[in-house]
Amino acid sequence: MPSAIAQSHPNIAFIKYWGNRDDLLRIPSNNSISMNLDGLSTQTQVTFDSSQASDELILNSAPVQGPALKRVMVFLDLVRQMAELQLFARVESQNNFPMGAGIASSASAFAALALAASAAAGLKLSEKDLSRLARGGSGSACRSIPGGFVEWQAGQDDDTSYATSIAPPEHWSLVDCIAIVSQEHKATGSAQGQALAHTSPLQAPRLADAPRRLEICRQAILDRDFSAFAEVVEQDSNLMHAVMMTAVPPLFYWQPATLEVIQTVINWRKDGLQVCYTIDAGPNVHVLCLEQHTNPVKESLEQLPGVEKVLIARPGGAARLL
Ligand code: PMV
Repeated sequence: MPSAIAQSHPNIAFIKYWGNRDDLLRIPSNNSISMNLDGLSTQTQVTFDSSQASDELILNSAPVQGPALKRVMVFLDLVRQMAELQLFARVESQNNFPMGAGIASSASAFAALALAASAAAGLKLSEKDLSRLARGGSGSACRSIPGGFVEWQAGQDDDTSYATSIAPPEHWSLVDCIAIVSQEHKATGSAQGQALAHTSPLQAPRLADAPRRLEICRQAILDRDFSAFAEVVEQDSNLMHAVMMTAVPPLFYWQPATLEVIQTVINWRKDGLQVCYTIDAGPNVHVLCLEQHTNPVKESLEQLPGVEKVLIARPGGAARLL
């Protein structure tokens, strides 16, 4: 029975992906930049087995049915087609962090699945082709294939839309202190939300300005320039949430505690601490700082009412086979 196990990390976007030029192929409307999150991981085993009557998904030791299984089956079809394979698969996956709450669990899920399923099917894909394949499961998953600091080139079509590393994990000791304000599964998933992006009158100006933000962010990472980085990362997150909030129907991922953390981080920076925030499609706040400030930032975040706990993640490596 051909089987493979892969491990991957979720990623936090500094310049966000929100909205597609082509929803079917998941060709995004703009490039995005992210960092893989070491310490948080998904481990997935895929076994193609002639005794399986259909595909099976076991997530954190519990069997999964419904839309999540369907999404995995559609993805496995892509791999079967590439490998000219007819067998059904058993997929067993474990996450060591909360899912569906603004920590990109779909990113690490489909990155690990792309690697494990393609290897189990006997395909030896390049990093580019793995990234393209992972994109088929979830857009941001293509950024969890390469290591460290990563840029997803939006491209024009299936062949040209994939992510590459812009700097290895050890390039910059940036730390993501993730303030968990809720572990509940979000009501509107990012795939549904992405499809609404074009209904916001703010999406077009957000996209028009994206090349400027991308350039500033890429350069700030290369120069390890925290001040330039902080300003553009917060602005980009605010722009994406403005688009979400002004879509039809509107999407509000924030909770009161989300705004409390945002305001606290802004005040800390005014007081001279090198810290900034960014928020994905959920209420939790990713508070970014430099390694030497990790403990005070973590401890101060833990004191805030509404913050349940703080997860710490450093720059993570590429998806890999175990
Ligand atoms: O890949 P998706 O469909 O889960 O979308 C991810 C969207 C954000 O996390 C909000 C932004 C991003 O670029 O990761």
